[in-house]
Amino acid sequence: MIVYVNGQWMDDSTASVSFQDRAFVFADAVYEVVYIYKGTYFKMDLHLERMQNGLDKLRIPFRADDLRSVFDELLQRNPGIERGILYVQVTRGAAPRAHGLPRLEQPTVVAYVKPLQYDSRIWDNGGRAVFVEDLRWHMCNIKTTGLLLNCMAKETALERGCDDAIFHRGEIVTEASASNLFIVKDGNLVTHPNGPWILPGITRHVVIELAGKIGIPVIERPFTKDELLAADELFLTGTTSEVAPYVEVEGQPIGNGQVGPITRRIQKAFRQATGM
Ligand code: PDD
Repeated sequence: MIVYVNGQWMDDSTASVSFQDRAFVFADAVYEVVYIYKGTYFKMDLHLERMQNGLDKLRIPFRADDLRSVFDELLQRNPGIERGILYVQVTRGAAPRAHGLPRLEQPTVVAYVKPLQYDSRIWDNGGRAVFVEDLRWHMCNIKTTGLLLNCMAKETALERGCDDAIFHRGEIVTEASASNLFIVKDGNLVTHPNGPWILPGITRHVVIELAGKIGIPVIERPFTKDELLAADELFLTGTTSEVAPYVEVEGQPIGNGQVGPITRRIQKAFRQATGM
């Protein structure tokens, strides 16, 4: 695999960054994961826009848009990826450890593409989730590499024989470990509004748009764990999870415990949008 590191093309076995990189020391970095469908990036403009917002909020002086040609070249240098992902990370750069933000000339940029082994188990049959208290910070709308609590939540789910963890702040459900979350109630989609507690997901955005087109109303408002458990249907959205039905939470069936009809309609519309 040929990867991009700071302006150079390298084999992944030799690519490296400094031990003083601020991403390594402070998670001082933003990242994006972009899906590749049929050899083409899905919703690249939206990913670049979100990355730029994150860079600006963290005061990392870098133009995300300048990476477009790098991303195109990655596909050329790693040909034949029909279905896969792009991972890109931009860090403030390398500097001796200090809490104040150094004015660095050279951010660190790492980007690679890789094929995805598609697994349709959850898409087809639905997954099972646990609740985990959301102890993350109040800037979850920035896609930083500081994902330790997301990783620990996912691990809690796996240890309990489930597929994913659903975060809640007190009674309010926010999102999942690496996905946004929608419930279906009485024919409406309900999802937590954008803001400091969730990532403004690109897939979430696409699903809201698609729901509008196929006549399913979407309500963006906070909702509780009890509302989730009493929902008719539940699904997660994310670049790698796509539209993932969940049929059980904390051992309790959601609706009748089967993937529901509204989720299936959203999945169908999503498949069409991705061209797969
Ligand atoms: N995660 N919420 C969180 C916490 C996420 O990490 C992600 C994506 C999402 C969904 O966003 P999008 O639809 O733009 O992918 C929501 C990526 C895929 C990851 O960390 O691997």
